[in-house]
Amino acid sequence: MKNLLINFKTNGNAQQGYLSFFESNKDIPFEIKRIYYIFDVPIESKRGMHTHKKLQQVLWCPNGEVEVLLDDGKEKKSYLLDSPEKALLVLRGYWHDMYWKKEGSVLCVAASDYYNEEDYIRDYDEFLKYVKEGYWNDEN
Ligand code: TYD
Repeated sequence: MKNLLINFKTNGNAQQGYLSFFESNKDIPFEIKRIYYIFDVPIESKRGMHTHKKLQQVLWCPNGEVEVLLDDGKEKKSYLLDSPEKALLVLRGYWHDMYWKKEGSVLCVAASDYYNEEDYIRDYDEFLKYVKEGYWNDEN
């Protein structure tokens, strides 16, 4: 699995605090059309459990700790988002599960398109079928 972690650029110092940022098509490989965030999730709750046919997303946790398990149908890898400067690219075709590790954790998401339930694959066997058929082999 390729490296999907990004370190946001950060300005600041301990006296005045810090500011992190990222820009469409520069720091992340797509244009942002939608932002959403998930909060007040009980510890060890699991969310996600789906992939997207086309949608590209970047996930970051400005406060707290969220573990994200990525699965490309061949390999699984776990990422801990435990710093406001750390982000994870969840590209199309990656099955993802998210686990809340700390109370008060907020997970922010910037997405490449508007919400569309048709873009979701929520059935794991269907996901494996898409992988087997090479649906995501063409990076475009
Ligand atoms: P979902 O993406 O399944 O959340 P998670 O992966 O965290 O479990 O979305 C949960 C519900 O919220 C689902 O019914 C669709 C709705 N939703 C929207 O209406 N708009 C959005 O932008 C998102 C992300 C979800």
